Amino acid sequence: MAAENLIINTDSRESISLNGTWQYIVDPYDTGFYTYRFTERSEGDPEAYWNNPVTKHRSERREHGYHPSNSLQVPGDWNSQKKELTYYEGSVWYQRDFDLRSLKKGERAFLYFGAVNYEAHVYLNGKKLGMHKGGFTPFNFEIPKELIKKEDNFLVVKVDNKRHPQEVPTVNVDWWNYGGITRDVKVLITPDKFIQQYNVQLDPAQDIAESIAQDRFVVTGSVDFNRDAGKGSVTVKIPELDFTRDYAVSGDRLEFDIELADLELWSPEDPKLYNVELAYNGETLSDRIGFRKIETVGNEIHLNGERVFLRGATIHEEIPQDVRRAYSKEDAEQLLGWAKELNANMLRLAHYPHNEEITRLADAMGFLVWSEIPVYWTIDFSSDEVLEKAKVQLEEMITRDRNRASIIIWSVGNETPVSPVRTAFMKSLIDKAKSLDDSRLVSAALEVHYNPETNHINDPLGAYTDIVSVNEYLGWYGGTPDMCRTAQWEVDYDKPLIISETGAGAKGGFHADRETRWSEEYQEWYYQEQIAMFERMPEGFSGVAPWILVDFRSPKRNHPEYQEGWNRKGIIDEKGNKKKAFAVLNKYYDEMEAATAR
Ligand code: GCU
Repeated sequence: MAAENLIINTDSRESISLNGTWQYIVDPYDTGFYTYRFTERSEGDPEAYWNNPVTKHRSERREHGYHPSNSLQVPGDWNSQKKELTYYEGSVWYQRDFDLRSLKKGERAFLYFGAVNYEAHVYLNGKKLGMHKGGFTPFNFEIPKELIKKEDNFLVVKVDNKRHPQEVPTVNVDWWNYGGITRDVKVLITPDKFIQQYNVQLDPAQDIAESIAQDRFVVTGSVDFNRDAGKGSVTVKIPELDFTRDYAVSGDRLEFDIELADLELWSPEDPKLYNVELAYNGETLSDRIGFRKIETVGNEIHLNGERVFLRGATIHEEIPQDVRRAYSKEDAEQLLGWAKELNANMLRLAHYPHNEEITRLADAMGFLVWSEIPVYWTIDFSSDEVLEKAKVQLEEMITRDRNRASIIIWSVGNETPVSPVRTAFMKSLIDKAKSLDDSRLVSAALEVHYNPETNHINDPLGAYTDIVSVNEYLGWYGGTPDMCRTAQWEVDYDKPLIISETGAGAKGGFHADRETRWSEEYQEWYYQEQIAMFERMPEGFSGVAPWILVDFRSPKRNHPEYQEGWNRKGIIDEKGNKKKAFAVLNKYYDEMEAATAR
């Protein structure tokens, strides 16, 4: 499914939730998909796991079936729900029935998935609706009318989270490869012609200082219909600003500009959101939208015309106490609540697009967001197919969240090894991102090979990104924290510089002298030395995103005493207890907030 068919803002549409209890079959050998000759089963094959295994006569043989005793909750990963699936990577078949009222004339129905990790094959009543790859972005398939039954529609999703060298991410990552239907599932019901996607934002081309001075702001908008809209009109409303206007439509896209006065701009200090309504063909979509301008000015990052310093917190989409993927509003409130306690004003969502609860809450709570696709470490940069897969995820990420004021940076990857093939691959992603959205900054987390003398930031990819973002671990992966005292930093680009990762491991509750690795004191010392070093960073130093806010699961971390399958670089441990380093960073952020008050 191409991203242009993605339906956005599904919460604002008529829908039936398919969340809840689903039945499942674990199928490590893909028996439900392939015959014993390992050829794909035919559609009508009764042994295919997408077919309802009913027997019409007692002599019939059936060797698969869905049963309430084998149930999983959706949304949710399977690893945290079934002990035997903790480490499981492979295929799991999910099945549930649902009823659906008969559609009125012209109405359409779509199956929508917030995310399924990694490869999803979707079947309804024995027919295949489609396949999607990518574990962290949404997709939807239209349900052919003739396929719909009033009752007991038999829905099956084959989910396979096996890692492969040719996928995005590839085989080697430092996070838990949670599998399953990890985000909401719903049936969307739409009119025959409907608004598929839209974008309403402050026109990035305007001189924001001038607009503020003249109290005259230009908001630009576009609406993409699912098909030729024919005649009719779209009504755009911003009730709080007493703004209402009808726009005649023709073709499958509408573009408009609005001039507004008294517009309160969105910022972390004042995360102002407006209700914006788009009505067309009997359907009204409403969204909470903030208006702000983000740009680089020389080697500074400016928000609404003023320099901003990014006080970051990095997070994985995980709830450590339950060792599971985060998916709900409450989960987002917990993670962003911790970031607020740290006095962070920026979130780096690592290393894949997080769920919409998180980005919408970031809008409401006033966080500046870095959102990233999982082009991570050693992707196969020589493959056009892999590039295409990355581009699809990039477009899906941008399409879903292009109306989120909080998102200021699209990241096309993390710590990708320098080579001409890689740089060409990454540049192609940067160009794609800019072609999709010229109103935000585009970056990637670059790597530096640190040393106690001069650290030279000259990754060729920095020539194409809007800001230069580097991951550095001077004092953890390189030497001890005191090495920061002599470290110098040189950047080859006259661009804003942010440290997109820096951090040290500490086992929560383990205390010792500061030179003892894994102690909270070592991690505390690490940040004390880093923060002192930040005072000496090059002029364009515009922010830091410590790695990481809270400990997270990783099968790569196997020190029996200090790690036990956890990456321990959190400044909060897996039980939610703050480590000593939390206070060090919080103090630094309070000082930076005061020093860079806007
Ligand atoms: C890397 C990487 C992270 C990883 C971290 C670490 O920089 O980007 O995904 O978890 O370092 O080593 O802890």
